[in-house]
Amino acid sequence: MPSDPVVSSNIDQALTLLQQGLLVAIPTETVYGLGADASNEAALERLYTVKGRPTHHPVIVHLAHVQQLSQWAIDIPDSAYQLAEAFWPGPMTLILKKAPHVSSRITGGQDTIGLRIPNHPLTLALLEQFQGGIAAPSANKFGCLSPTTPEQVCHALGNAIPMILDGGPCHVGIESTIIDLSGGTPCILRPGMLTEAEIHRVLTAQVTALASSILPRSDVRAPGTLNSHYAPRSPVELVTLENLPARIASLASDKGPLGILSRQPKPMDNPNIHWVQAPKDAPGYAKQLYANLFYLDQLGCRTILVEVVPTEGSWTGVADRLGRAASGSSARTHQPA
Ligand code: TXA
Ligand code: MG
Repeated sequence: MPSDPVVSSNIDQALTLLQQGLLVAIPTETVYGLGADASNEAALERLYTVKGRPTHHPVIVHLAHVQQLSQWAIDIPDSAYQLAEAFWPGPMTLILKKAPHVSSRITGGQDTIGLRIPNHPLTLALLEQFQGGIAAPSANKFGCLSPTTPEQVCHALGNAIPMILDGGPCHVGIESTIIDLSGGTPCILRPGMLTEAEIHRVLTAQVTALASSILPRSDVRAPGTLNSHYAPRSPVELVTLENLPARIASLASDKGPLGILSRQPKPMDNPNIHWVQAPKDAPGYAKQLYANLFYLDQLGCRTILVEVVPTEGSWTGVADRLGRAASGSSARTHQPA
């Protein structure tokens, strides 16, 4: 029987495991990643098996220094260096043309690679000592909630990995903003807490954003853009604050507790309702989003009603993840797996 993972902030131990081709969950400022040596085929195979991700879906490679970009990518545009200078280490992933030696296991068979310098002191120190790249998708099973604490990693992956590098709770809370620089116009493939406006301030070129998460998409360039992503087990439903009382009333006769995620305080005392009051500002809301959904999910809520959030500016990434969580649960309701 495999044992529970070691949960520790010992960088040397994490380094040894990675060098042996084993997997280590690593903290980043966004979410925890499931790390593997990006130059070791056996480690990458292990990564896809534990993650349960289809092999044609690419993973991000994490680096310590911008000088390492040219070891992994070719035809790097000036815009990449401008963005790197402004936002790395930080919650931004750049998609660039891959260097010839890069394994197709990392790129999902595409000719591009996702690269990021994360902003977490433990992982930066680990990357510094490791020297190579660490491939790391979010440390959850494919399609489930991303973990933002070691406890959530443990719950998601448990004894399938030998170690979780304990860096405490993640400060940003939702995954990095992904910017595709491999084509003509820079394109935001996945919104995050680094906003389009901030990117515009650095780039003189026009930036486009991928259409809203609510629209169905058929390609798999970035699985984080699939509609069924980031969903807890309990069905999630987005409701306006105005419609919330009526929706609660209509679900009141159903069995089991109801979960509510709202920016408003709990208006009534009802033991059958688990009401979580989320922060009113986007960064605060994002930081706690997955932990809040995880908490309500753990309580076995039959439905989680989420008060809709703004969709513009710093809320874009949060609105995107909520849209996918709701869309993912309705897909599951209609097509039980
Ligand atoms: O914040 C984050 O980005 C976290 C932390 C751990 O760094 N990582 C993360 O990884 O969210 P993952 O694998 O769960 O999501 C990465 C996204 C996926 O949607 C993947 O398809 C996309 O990045 N991606 C990676 N390489 C790509 C490529 N070459 N072209 C297009 N999309 C790519
Ligand atoms: Mg993910």
